[in-house]
Amino acid sequence: MNAPREPWTDDRLLARGDAWGQTFEAWREEGALVWRPEFFGGAWVVTRHAQAQAALRDPRLSVRRTGAWVMSDDAARQQLRGLQGLMARALLFVDAPDHGRLRALLAPAFAPAALQALAAGIEADVQALLDALPAGGDADPPVDLVATLTRPLPARVIGRCLGLVGCDCDGPEFLAWSEELAQFLAAPEPSRALALRAQRALLAMVEPLERVARERPDSLPGRLQAALDDGRLHDRQELLAQLVMLLFAGYETTRHLLGSLLLTLWRDPARWQALGRAVAADGPATGRAALAAVVREALRRDCPVRYTARRVACDFEWDGQRLRRGQPLLVLLSSALRDPRQFDAPLDWRPQRGSGWALAFGSGAHVCLGAALTQIEAETVLRVLLQRWPQAPRVAGPAGASHRPGRHDPHDRPADAAGVP
Ligand code: HEM
Repeated sequence: MNAPREPWTDDRLLARGDAWGQTFEAWREEGALVWRPEFFGGAWVVTRHAQAQAALRDPRLSVRRTGAWVMSDDAARQQLRGLQGLMARALLFVDAPDHGRLRALLAPAFAPAALQALAAGIEADVQALLDALPAGGDADPPVDLVATLTRPLPARVIGRCLGLVGCDCDGPEFLAWSEELAQFLAAPEPSRALALRAQRALLAMVEPLERVARERPDSLPGRLQAALDDGRLHDRQELLAQLVMLLFAGYETTRHLLGSLLLTLWRDPARWQALGRAVAADGPATGRAALAAVVREALRRDCPVRYTARRVACDFEWDGQRLRRGQPLLVLLSSALRDPRQFDAPLDWRPQRGSGWALAFGSGAHVCLGAALTQIEAETVLRVLLQRWPQAPRVAGPAGASHRPGRHDPHDRPADAAGVP
């Protein structure tokens, strides 16, 4: 098959990402911990690598966010109070001791043996999505790989994790629901229409998730149902919160990683060919090392989660500053991952760098549960694409990938920072 001729859409987002990179650089040079009035009407912002890592491990900073979504009208806010209340029960937003209890219930689904069992299915998904592309040729219309691959794949993979693939609820509507929910969770000011669609998507998802929980005891929802039955989960809301969190936690993030990764490699065909040679020359084991290295560098340089949030749990002094209980604090991962104190020439693409990149997945108790899954998914995409298109596909003009850094956190959207990507 020939390569798609114009695989990308939406360079606006890329341009905005660069603009924020410059802003973050200015804040980073101002200090490791700076007060920014434009977030939440005032918030601490952690800008450097060492301090970001420390903040994510500091028990005096809570993951419980009390901030509300910025809704465009009150009716929309009412509508979504239920969804917000539900999400507050999810692993990502609860502190110890509940966090440890919930994490122990979810972790087996992301253990090496479970991921190994998923790997063949992920490859089949990549192949099937690419098979749907029209055959190549100069007369072919441009192909949008975002629509064909990087957008649908993460939703399908999460569907696999949740045991939804292969049952009668596996279909295009699942992708639509995931998107509607993710769009709502990522929107700076969700409109009433978006809120309603997210609400409807959630309601539509509950039935299949609960059915899988009842009918497939070996699936993740089935194991959570068993935990509900024996009291390890407190109630049905808590069960649903974990499943809904997984749907969005791994969707926008992986999608933007795949977009920025392919864009970087295809914009400079020499990079793509060098990767192809490394994989071919090294054999399956070390070829994997070359793939893993480019995935790590994309996670570092174009971190899909721009920032994550905490709330100060008690008054304390840190980095010469006095933090007060209740104040919001943002850990700017994409600034920390471009911190020249940690990385030489941080804007350069250097897949052979050493440690430090893993901060893209967070750190400490809340470190990403889907990190290994993400790496398998991204490496599979690269391996299959290298086989199909040993020459880098042409990336149209100045267009960029739809690689806007995503976020996990629906609660920490800055109230008055219009335009924050
Ligand atoms: C947590 C990044 C993909 C599930 C996190 C955190 C980060 C992160 C930074 C920590 C947030 C914090 O401390 O506030 C990423 C990136 C991804 C990715 C960059 C892909 C490019 C996934 C996938 C899944 C997933 C595919 C699962 C399907 C989770 C979960 C947590 C989490 C469940 C919460 C862990 C906890 O609170 O204990 N992720 N993630 N992530 N991620 Fe991911």
